[in-house]
Amino acid sequence: MAGSSFGTIFKITTWGESHGKAIGVVIDGCPAGLPLDESDISQYTDRRRPNGGSMSTKRIESDRVEILSGIFEGKTTGTPISLIIRNEDQRSKDYSQIADSYRPGHADYGFDAKYGFRDYRGGGRSSARETAARVAAGAIAQKLLKSMGIECSARLTAVGDIPASDPQAVEALVNRCREDQDSIGSTVECTVKGMPAGIGDPVFEKLDANLAKAMFSIGAVKGLDIGDGHLAATAKGSTNNDAFRMEDGKVSTATNHAGGILGGISNGSDIRLTVYFKPTPSIAAKQNTVNRFHEEIEMNIKGRHDPVIGARAAVVVECMTALVLVDALLLNMTSRLDRILDFYQH
Ligand SMILES: Cc1cc2nc3c(=O)[nH]c(=O)nc-3n(C[C@H](O)[C@H](O)[C@H](O)COP(=O)(O)O)c2cc1C
Repeated sequence: MAGSSFGTIFKITTWGESHGKAIGVVIDGCPAGLPLDESDISQYTDRRRPNGGSMSTKRIESDRVEILSGIFEGKTTGTPISLIIRNEDQRSKDYSQIADSYRPGHADYGFDAKYGFRDYRGGGRSSARETAARVAAGAIAQKLLKSMGIECSARLTAVGDIPASDPQAVEALVNRCREDQDSIGSTVECTVKGMPAGIGDPVFEKLDANLAKAMFSIGAVKGLDIGDGHLAATAKGSTNNDAFRMEDGKVSTATNHAGGILGGISNGSDIRLTVYFKPTPSIAAKQNTVNRFHEEIEMNIKGRHDPVIGARAAVVVECMTALVLVDALLLNMTSRLDRILDFYQH
């Protein structure tokens, strides 16, 4: 299957299926000398794994990450870093009912149409379990960003139309969805502080284009705003433009409608992303569908599913953002001859 790799210099390849023996990631292009141990990674993978809360699946995934290569005496060596997460709570029988049927809203039909064969156990490669591997890689990107003074963080900001700042109303909405055997959409916001100006490229490798690709590579993402995003379509130029000004001897902007990126290149303001997740497709309520034999059937999906995706996906958004930014920062090292000469002549 093509398309399991992401990035140009800081390049990751994820592998493994939800109900196979393990999942993992190989990270090539990480600079040597970064202090790194398993706890640097687990603080991110722990945020993604099910926590038994009302917004999470009841599956148990300890998601312990083992470092197989690329680290010596506590530091990255510059060689490929290989990480493995063994699968533990595999109840493949939970999924036997979807072996022949296509879950509405999920990837099952597309997989069969493409490959003529599919690993139906938990969705195989289209399962969100794959995102554990990207989060493990993103944790390393996050550590690199922090070493450069760049802070990248994401959080759940709404469940349906209820702001996450109202946890009681959110809990009530989620409980109602559970009782109705239903699920609900959600919103995640990501902010990057301390990103220097001048990172990204002007044409096909625009920073915003690469962020959009990264976000839409996450399952269930159906929309993205960068800065004011879609609101710009109804704004006027006079209010949408961010006036430049000088602040402590540096160029800055008075407002940040653009979300820190203009012409595909960072302008030094905070990068702001708003990511929209659809409701979890696997719901227990009865649904109409079709099976592999092209018969119309009704199905009730068993198994354990997240009623709200954004709760566990915030850290995935954060880590995918970090991966794009680190790659852009490393690519940018070749943009100016004076800096190349400075580097090689000293
Ligand atoms: C963190 C996370 C958790 C998810 N949990 C589930 C789940 O428990 N059940 C499910 O059916 N889909 C879940 N999804 C969504 C599916 O992976 C996704 O909807 C499916 O692959 C179809 O792709 P699409 O919605 O991007 O078109 C989850 C996605 C993410 C990012």
